[in-house]
Amino acid sequence: MSQNDSLFERAQRVIPGGVNSPVRAFRAVGGTPRFIARGEGAYMVDADGKRYIDYIGSWGPMILGHGHPAVIEAVQRAVTEGLSFGAPTEREIELAEEILQLVPSCEQVRLVSSGTEATMSAIRLARGATGRNTFIKFEGCYHGHTDALLVKAGSGLATFGHPTSAGVPEATAQHTLVLEYNNVEALEEAFALYGPELACVIVEPIAGNMNFVRASVPFMTRLRELCTASGALLVLDEVMTGFRVGLRSAQGHYADLIPGFKPDISVFGKVIGGGMPLAAFGASRDIMKHLAPLGGVYQAGTLSGNPVATACGLATLREIRKPGFFEALSARTRRLVEGLSAVAREQGVPFSADSQGGMFGFFLLPELPQNYTEVMRTDKERFNRFFHAMLDAGVYLAPALYEAGFVSAAHTDADIDATLAAARTALR
Ligand SMILES: Cc1ncc(COP(=O)(O)O)c(C=O)c1O
Repeated sequence: MSQNDSLFERAQRVIPGGVNSPVRAFRAVGGTPRFIARGEGAYMVDADGKRYIDYIGSWGPMILGHGHPAVIEAVQRAVTEGLSFGAPTEREIELAEEILQLVPSCEQVRLVSSGTEATMSAIRLARGATGRNTFIKFEGCYHGHTDALLVKAGSGLATFGHPTSAGVPEATAQHTLVLEYNNVEALEEAFALYGPELACVIVEPIAGNMNFVRASVPFMTRLRELCTASGALLVLDEVMTGFRVGLRSAQGHYADLIPGFKPDISVFGKVIGGGMPLAAFGASRDIMKHLAPLGGVYQAGTLSGNPVATACGLATLREIRKPGFFEALSARTRRLVEGLSAVAREQGVPFSADSQGGMFGFFLLPELPQNYTEVMRTDKERFNRFFHAMLDAGVYLAPALYEAGFVSAAHTDADIDATLAAARTALR
């Protein structure tokens, strides 16, 4: 029996499903999850000592790879100074300043400990600032596991949703409208019906929870216009895309494509913590003044702005803002995506792929899908066979067809070449 098998057996005795977050259990692809013993740059090593090229990077945060010396040094120094105080520290200001310099749509940020907490707080802030309850989300976008966000579409174009999880009361979903991603018609209809009641629209600008699907420019343009016209706040969930698809995040990318584009509230996580529990939400001073202790929207956290997490996040942001960082990361990610497409073409396999910065997605579909329904047309059995063949060959891709992939600065051209060689065999 392998160490992975015996650890999984042991884990299942004491942890539901053997994991602390469901996707880790490999249920979508089958087989035994790999228990990771350590990370080294672009690699993870499992309990059996097998090394993998890591394309999940902790689902986004590890943009510098594992064990980057500047990050480790900053964390070690912070640890010796104290683990948590429950009182303000200078490092929180430094991290806030660093984020605000790179994200001009925000004048203030509040630091929290997880993406779930940040989106939950952003929705509460939007509701508190507008005095409205209803909000829109899109099918296939994931914003953490807050009750009101664990909702799927009802029947019809613009109807209220139903909980996707047991334990979420129908009543909690009654203010959540779930629409199809990239569907301008549904958006128009929802705003025509509910515009004056809408507190906000929350959206992943490049959705990383239905693999990798970009919001189209017409969709994002119309979304911004409709929000502005109705007084609803546009909340960009950049937990995954923030400081990952580019130094100015996805909102910087869309501002290049849509003149004057900016969100009202932005949510960050993952990269800003560099692998430690840290997330944030930010907006203009005018919106942020509604938060306690200034305003009536309550939000708090014992470990918010934790001194070790902020040290880790700061060291990470300081590395990624060095000149040329994103150019090199984007080029390497593109090389992977173009290489995979070429290999698939060679093997006659239907395939499409896309990337932005250090985030990518690939589909066993002839064309890039535009929404969740199209993503789920992927041949699951074929994806699962591909996933396992790659894993056996030492390439760790996301263990579900609806997840995005991530490249780090530690990945070399040789890693990409080894990945393409493995894919050539796996797709055969
Ligand atoms: C876009 C997005 N928002 C929110 C979250 C929730 O973040 P966390 O897992 O840190 O709670 C995730 C997690 O993957 C995410 O991808």
